[in-house]
Amino acid sequence: MKDSKPLFKGLICKECSARYNPEPIHVCEQCFGPLEVEYDYEAIAPLISRDIIQSRAPNMWRYRELLPIQGDVTVGEHVGFTPLVKADRLAAKLGVRELWIKNDSVNYPTLSFKDRVVSVALTRAKEFGYDTVACASTGNLANSVAANAAAAGLNSFVFIPSDLEPGKVLGSSVYGTNVIGIEGTYDQVNRLCSEIGGRFPWAFVNINMRPYYAEGSKAMGYEIAEQLGWKLPDHVVVPMAGGSLITKIKKSFDEFVKLGIVDAHPTHIHGAQPENCSPIVTAVKEGKDFFRPVEKPNTIVKSLAIGNPADGFYSIQTMNETGGYGENPNDDEVVEGIRLLAEYAGVFSETAGGTVVGAAKRMIEAGRINPDESIVLCITGHGLKTKEALEGKLPPPAAIKPSLKEFEALYAARTH
Ligand SMILES: Cc1ncc(COP(=O)(O)O)c(C=O)c1O
Ligand SMILES: [Zn+2]
Repeated sequence: MKDSKPLFKGLICKECSARYNPEPIHVCEQCFGPLEVEYDYEAIAPLISRDIIQSRAPNMWRYRELLPIQGDVTVGEHVGFTPLVKADRLAAKLGVRELWIKNDSVNYPTLSFKDRVVSVALTRAKEFGYDTVACASTGNLANSVAANAAAAGLNSFVFIPSDLEPGKVLGSSVYGTNVIGIEGTYDQVNRLCSEIGGRFPWAFVNINMRPYYAEGSKAMGYEIAEQLGWKLPDHVVVPMAGGSLITKIKKSFDEFVKLGIVDAHPTHIHGAQPENCSPIVTAVKEGKDFFRPVEKPNTIVKSLAIGNPADGFYSIQTMNETGGYGENPNDDEVVEGIRLLAEYAGVFSETAGGTVVGAAKRMIEAGRINPDESIVLCITGHGLKTKEALEGKLPPPAAIKPSLKEFEALYAARTH
């Protein structure tokens, strides 16, 4: 790839289609709409095929022609290609025939899908010559920026709401980054970061790097298609915070169809948010094109607690255009979802995954997901990061003396 012509043309405004050079910018000067990467699909088509992809290493860079960097991958070259697991026991429990788990809770290196977006954003930040990277985060993004910046030798600042789970905070500070806790909601953190970004010459991965960063999420969709045997599923259930991932799953499927890598297929793309922070799902349920921001999110699902989602409008479009729907399980259903996933599929997810399972369960029960069709659940982060969600919810371990007699008594009690 080195010194080859970039396969992306530049940036294009999602609203007015104004075009821009591929700079570290994210807002249209004409209409303030968000900017998105634009590719030269004619130039890409001869360079990518099923065979070419399969000949490459098992990481997300096997789709590199469709990711917006100009030279070689310099940050996160091992990210992606997480398992797509057929979950037959969970399928039976939920009363469906074909259920898959896209398990990004084992993504490298920080156990969430955010490693995908950060790999692209930091590689691109290095191409622009930045020495300091930063982000506004609900936790997982901060973990990934901190780890990948450490590995790449970049300075980093991560800005988070100060009330995040201890596991999420520690999962950033261990890398020696600057962790800045803000007394406020994520939306307040984000606003502050926009001001800081105007004052300091840094690569803010989800602000001035956002067009590049966001494209990293497409790799999750490419992998789902490839791992299903070059087929698109009937349903995908995606967790939403800022609402970027769900739009990029759609874009990934559309691009694979456009390039002839998979056959066109109508996938229903559904979104999941927790009950007390569900601006996007509420809009979909009410049949509205616009969402009402949630001022004070109040949920155990802190990773999805974004009250004013940057891509909320486009997420609503994604669900409506694909015949998808949205659901917003409450905290108890989220915990039940985490337990179902663990007990019936052996996957320990964070609260976002519980939200996805809870949402899927509701949609199956309501007949919005046909039980005879194929379903993929996007599980995006690891459960050890949000242990407190299960506090007091699981039986304590049995405690006995190191004595065979005591064990025999316990065994007898349990088997009667
Ligand atoms: C575990 C997890 N899943 C899903 C999301 C949602 O991503 P997006 O902001 O692209 O909607 C996040 C965002 O922070 C997350 O941490
Ligand atoms: Zn514009």
